Amino acid sequence: MLAEPDHRFVLSNLGRYTDVVRLKGGRPLTVRFIEPKDSDALLFYFRSMSRQSRYNRLMGAASELPLSELDKALHIGEGSRFAVVAEMKIDGVDTIVGESRYSYDAETQNTEFGLSIGDAWQGQGIGTAMLSNLECRSAALGALRLFGETFRNNDQMIALARKAGYIFAAAPSDWRLTRFEKPLYRATEIPCESWKQAATAGWMPNEALLAAR
Ligand SMILES: CC(C)(COP(=O)(O)OP(=O)(O)OC[C@H]1O[C@@H](n2cnc3c(N)ncnc32)[C@H](O)[C@@H]1OP(=O)(O)O)[C@@H](O)C(=O)NCCC(=O)NCCS
Repeated sequence: MLAEPDHRFVLSNLGRYTDVVRLKGGRPLTVRFIEPKDSDALLFYFRSMSRQSRYNRLMGAASELPLSELDKALHIGEGSRFAVVAEMKIDGVDTIVGESRYSYDAETQNTEFGLSIGDAWQGQGIGTAMLSNLECRSAALGALRLFGETFRNNDQMIALARKAGYIFAAAPSDWRLTRFEKPLYRATEIPCESWKQAATAGWMPNEALLAAR
Protein backbone atom coordinates (compact mmCIF):
# COMPACT_ATOMS: atom_id res chain seq x y z
CA MET A 1 0.00 0.00 0.00
CA LEU A 2 1.30 3.48 -0.85
CA ALA A 3 1.95 5.79 2.08
CA GLU A 4 -0.35 8.82 2.30
CA PRO A 5 1.49 11.89 0.97
CA ASP A 6 2.17 14.44 3.69
CA HIS A 7 0.31 17.50 2.44
CA ARG A 8 2.29 19.79 4.73
CA PHE A 9 5.25 19.27 2.43
CA VAL A 10 3.55 20.14 -0.85
CA LEU A 11 4.90 23.66 -0.90
CA SER A 12 3.80 26.47 -3.15
CA ASN A 13 5.58 29.79 -3.61
CA LEU A 14 9.01 28.44 -2.61
CA GLY A 15 10.36 31.98 -2.24
CA ARG A 16 8.40 32.35 1.01
CA TYR A 17 10.86 29.99 2.68
CA THR A 18 13.92 32.09 1.91
CA ASP A 19 16.20 33.11 4.77
CA VAL A 20 18.89 35.76 4.86
CA VAL A 21 21.43 34.83 7.53
CA ARG A 22 24.43 36.88 8.64
CA LEU A 23 27.97 35.51 8.50
CA LYS A 24 30.70 36.48 10.95
CA GLY A 25 31.49 40.04 9.92
CA GLY A 26 27.89 40.71 8.92
CA ARG A 27 27.96 39.61 5.27
CA PRO A 28 24.50 38.37 4.19
CA LEU A 29 23.97 34.83 2.92
CA THR A 30 20.69 33.83 1.30
CA VAL A 31 19.46 30.27 1.91
CA ARG A 32 16.53 29.25 -0.31
CA PHE A 33 14.92 26.22 -1.89
CA ILE A 34 16.37 25.13 -5.22
CA GLU A 35 14.19 26.03 -8.20
CA PRO A 36 14.26 24.78 -11.82
CA LYS A 37 16.00 28.01 -12.92
CA ASP A 38 19.00 26.95 -10.76
CA SER A 39 19.72 23.72 -12.68
CA ASP A 40 22.64 24.98 -14.78
CA ALA A 41 24.18 26.97 -11.94
CA LEU A 42 23.96 23.99 -9.61
CA LEU A 43 25.57 21.65 -12.15
CA PHE A 44 28.32 24.24 -12.66
CA TYR A 45 28.76 24.53 -8.88
CA PHE A 46 29.36 20.77 -8.55
CA ARG A 47 31.67 20.68 -11.57
CA SER A 48 33.74 23.51 -10.09
CA MET A 49 34.33 21.74 -6.78
CA SER A 50 37.66 20.12 -6.06
CA ARG A 51 37.71 16.38 -6.58
CA GLN A 52 38.13 15.84 -2.83
CA SER A 53 35.20 18.07 -1.83
CA ARG A 54 32.95 16.46 -4.43
CA TYR A 55 34.02 13.01 -3.27
CA ASN A 56 33.20 13.91 0.32
CA ARG A 57 29.85 15.38 -0.63
CA LEU A 58 28.67 12.70 -3.06
CA MET A 59 30.29 9.90 -1.03
CA GLY A 60 32.14 8.57 -4.04
CA ALA A 61 33.95 9.48 -7.22
CA ALA A 62 31.85 11.52 -9.66
CA SER A 63 32.81 14.37 -11.95
CA GLU A 64 29.47 16.06 -11.53
CA LEU A 65 26.11 15.92 -9.81
CA PRO A 66 24.24 12.96 -11.33
CA LEU A 67 21.14 14.13 -13.24
CA SER A 68 18.98 11.75 -11.19
CA GLU A 69 20.13 13.61 -8.05
CA LEU A 70 19.47 16.98 -9.68
CA ASP A 71 15.97 15.82 -10.55
CA LYS A 72 15.30 14.76 -6.95
CA ALA A 73 16.66 18.08 -5.68
CA LEU A 74 14.25 19.99 -7.91
CA HIS A 75 11.16 18.22 -6.55
CA ILE A 76 10.99 20.06 -3.25
CA GLY A 77 8.91 18.28 -0.65
CA GLU A 78 8.42 15.06 -2.64
CA GLY A 79 9.11 12.07 -0.42
CA SER A 80 9.76 14.59 2.39
CA ARG A 81 13.01 15.53 0.63
CA PHE A 82 14.22 19.12 0.38
CA ALA A 83 17.15 20.93 -1.20
CA VAL A 84 18.48 24.42 -0.63
CA VAL A 85 21.22 26.58 -2.08
CA ALA A 86 23.22 29.26 -0.30
CA GLU A 87 23.86 32.35 -2.40
CA MET A 88 26.09 35.37 -2.00
CA LYS A 89 26.70 38.36 -4.23
CA ILE A 90 30.11 37.86 -5.81
CA ASP A 91 31.21 40.82 -7.95
CA GLY A 92 27.58 41.94 -8.01
CA VAL A 93 26.26 38.57 -9.23
CA ASP A 94 24.15 36.17 -7.13
CA THR A 95 26.36 33.08 -6.95
CA ILE A 96 25.72 29.63 -5.45
CA VAL A 97 28.36 29.14 -2.76
CA GLY A 98 26.83 26.13 -1.01
CA GLU A 99 24.04 23.59 -1.13
CA SER A 100 22.35 21.09 1.08
CA ARG A 101 19.79 18.34 0.76
CA TYR A 102 17.81 17.03 3.68
CA SER A 103 15.04 14.51 4.19
CA TYR A 104 12.61 14.03 7.02
CA ASP A 105 11.43 10.67 8.30
CA ALA A 106 8.09 11.09 10.08
CA GLU A 107 8.36 7.68 11.74
CA THR A 108 11.69 8.28 13.48
CA GLN A 109 11.29 12.09 13.56
CA ASN A 110 14.86 12.30 12.25
CA THR A 111 16.09 14.58 9.48
CA GLU A 112 19.18 13.47 7.58
CA PHE A 113 21.27 16.00 5.67
CA GLY A 114 24.28 16.39 3.40
CA LEU A 115 26.01 19.72 2.88
CA SER A 116 28.72 21.33 0.81
CA ILE A 117 30.37 24.72 0.47
CA GLY A 118 32.30 25.52 -2.71
CA ASP A 119 36.06 25.34 -2.20
CA ALA A 120 36.59 29.05 -2.83
CA TRP A 121 34.21 29.92 0.01
CA GLN A 122 35.15 27.35 2.64
CA GLY A 123 36.49 28.45 6.02
CA GLN A 124 34.41 31.65 6.17
CA GLY A 125 31.66 30.40 8.47
CA ILE A 126 29.20 29.58 5.65
CA GLY A 127 28.95 25.90 6.63
CA THR A 128 28.24 26.88 10.23
CA ALA A 129 25.54 29.35 9.16
CA MET A 130 23.91 26.82 6.82
CA LEU A 131 23.92 24.09 9.43
CA SER A 132 22.20 26.37 11.92
CA ASN A 133 19.59 27.25 9.29
CA LEU A 134 19.07 23.53 8.52
CA GLU A 135 18.42 22.88 12.20
CA CYS A 136 15.58 25.37 12.14
CA ARG A 137 14.19 24.09 8.84
CA SER A 138 14.27 20.52 10.21
CA ALA A 139 12.55 21.47 13.44
CA ALA A 140 9.84 23.18 11.39
CA LEU A 141 9.16 19.81 9.72
CA GLY A 142 8.59 18.25 13.14
CA ALA A 143 12.03 16.66 13.50
CA LEU A 144 13.47 16.05 16.95
CA ARG A 145 16.96 15.20 15.64
CA LEU A 146 19.19 16.23 12.76
CA PHE A 147 21.94 13.88 11.66
CA GLY A 148 24.50 13.41 8.93
CA GLU A 149 27.15 10.88 7.96
CA THR A 150 30.59 11.56 6.62
CA PHE A 151 33.90 9.80 6.01
CA ARG A 152 35.91 9.32 9.19
CA ASN A 153 38.77 11.30 7.64
CA ASN A 154 36.65 14.33 6.68
CA ASP A 155 38.27 16.64 9.23
CA GLN A 156 36.43 19.79 8.10
CA MET A 157 32.94 18.30 8.43
CA ILE A 158 33.83 16.61 11.71
CA ALA A 159 35.23 19.88 13.11
CA LEU A 160 32.20 21.84 11.94
CA ALA A 161 29.77 19.34 13.47
CA ARG A 162 31.72 19.11 16.73
CA LYS A 163 31.75 22.89 17.08
CA ALA A 164 28.02 23.02 16.42
CA GLY A 165 27.36 20.57 19.28
CA TYR A 166 26.81 17.31 17.40
CA ILE A 167 27.36 13.94 19.08
CA PHE A 168 29.33 11.27 17.19
CA ALA A 169 28.70 7.54 16.82
CA ALA A 170 29.61 4.80 14.36
CA ALA A 171 27.43 4.84 11.25
CA PRO A 172 25.38 1.64 11.20
CA SER A 173 25.52 1.29 7.40
CA ASP A 174 29.24 1.63 6.62
CA TRP A 175 32.40 1.26 8.76
CA ARG A 176 34.14 4.04 6.78
CA LEU A 177 31.61 6.60 7.98
CA THR A 178 30.91 8.40 11.21
CA ARG A 179 27.44 9.63 12.15
CA PHE A 180 26.88 12.94 13.91
CA GLU A 181 23.58 13.84 15.46
CA LYS A 182 22.02 16.71 17.38
CA PRO A 183 18.74 16.97 19.27
CA LEU A 184 16.78 20.00 18.12
CA TYR A 185 15.68 21.21 21.56
CA ARG A 186 16.71 24.77 21.04
CA ALA A 187 15.45 25.30 17.52
CA THR A 188 12.81 27.82 18.58
CA GLU A 189 15.59 30.25 19.41
CA ILE A 190 16.84 30.24 15.83
CA PRO A 191 14.40 32.06 13.59
CA CYS A 192 13.88 30.89 10.03
CA GLU A 193 11.02 31.42 7.59
CA SER A 194 10.08 27.72 7.54
CA TRP A 195 9.56 27.85 11.28
CA LYS A 196 7.36 30.94 11.04
CA GLN A 197 5.33 29.46 8.18
CA ALA A 198 4.88 26.17 10.01
CA ALA A 199 3.86 27.89 13.23
CA THR A 200 1.35 30.10 11.39
CA ALA A 201 -0.15 27.08 9.61
CA GLY A 202 -0.42 25.14 12.89
CA TRP A 203 1.91 22.37 11.65
CA MET A 204 4.10 22.14 14.71
CA PRO A 205 3.45 18.74 16.27
CA ASN A 206 6.42 19.09 18.60
CA GLU A 207 6.09 22.79 19.31
CA ALA A 208 5.08 22.41 22.94
CA LEU A 209 7.86 19.87 23.48
CA LEU A 210 10.49 22.07 21.83
CA ALA A 211 9.39 25.18 23.68
CA ALA A 212 9.32 23.37 27.01
CA ARG A 213 12.93 22.19 26.92
C1 LIG B 1 32.67 20.55 5.58
C2 LIG B 1 32.29 21.92 5.01
C3 LIG B 1 30.79 21.92 4.72
C4 LIG B 1 32.61 23.01 6.04
O1 LIG B 1 32.11 24.24 5.57
P1 LIG B 1 32.87 25.62 5.87
O2 LIG B 1 32.01 26.73 5.37
O3 LIG B 1 34.23 25.55 5.35
O4 LIG B 1 32.88 25.61 7.46
P2 LIG B 1 33.06 26.86 8.44
O5 LIG B 1 33.84 27.93 7.76
O6 LIG B 1 31.72 27.20 8.98
O7 LIG B 1 33.96 26.21 9.56
C5 LIG B 1 33.42 25.65 10.73
C6 LIG B 1 34.51 25.01 11.55
O8 LIG B 1 34.97 23.84 10.87
C7 LIG B 1 36.38 23.72 11.07
N1 LIG B 1 37.06 23.81 9.80
C8 LIG B 1 36.69 24.43 8.67
N2 LIG B 1 37.61 24.25 7.70
C9 LIG B 1 38.58 23.48 8.25
C10 LIG B 1 39.82 22.93 7.76
N3 LIG B 1 40.22 23.13 6.49
N4 LIG B 1 40.54 22.17 8.61
C11 LIG B 1 40.14 21.95 9.87
N5 LIG B 1 39.00 22.45 10.39
C12 LIG B 1 38.24 23.20 9.59
C13 LIG B 1 36.79 24.83 12.01
O9 LIG B 1 36.68 24.36 13.33
C14 LIG B 1 35.73 25.87 11.75
O10 LIG B 1 35.50 26.74 12.81
P3 LIG B 1 36.39 28.09 12.97
O11 LIG B 1 36.43 28.75 11.62
O12 LIG B 1 35.65 28.89 13.98
O13 LIG B 1 37.72 27.61 13.42
C15 LIG B 1 33.11 22.22 3.73
O14 LIG B 1 34.47 22.08 4.03
C16 LIG B 1 32.75 21.35 2.55
O15 LIG B 1 31.79 21.65 1.84
N6 LIG B 1 33.50 20.26 2.29
C17 LIG B 1 33.26 19.42 1.12
C18 LIG B 1 31.94 18.65 1.17
C19 LIG B 1 31.80 17.89 2.46
O16 LIG B 1 32.73 17.36 3.02
N7 LIG B 1 30.54 17.78 2.94
C20 LIG B 1 30.20 17.04 4.13
C21 LIG B 1 29.38 15.85 3.78
S1 LIG B 1 27.99 15.72 4.90
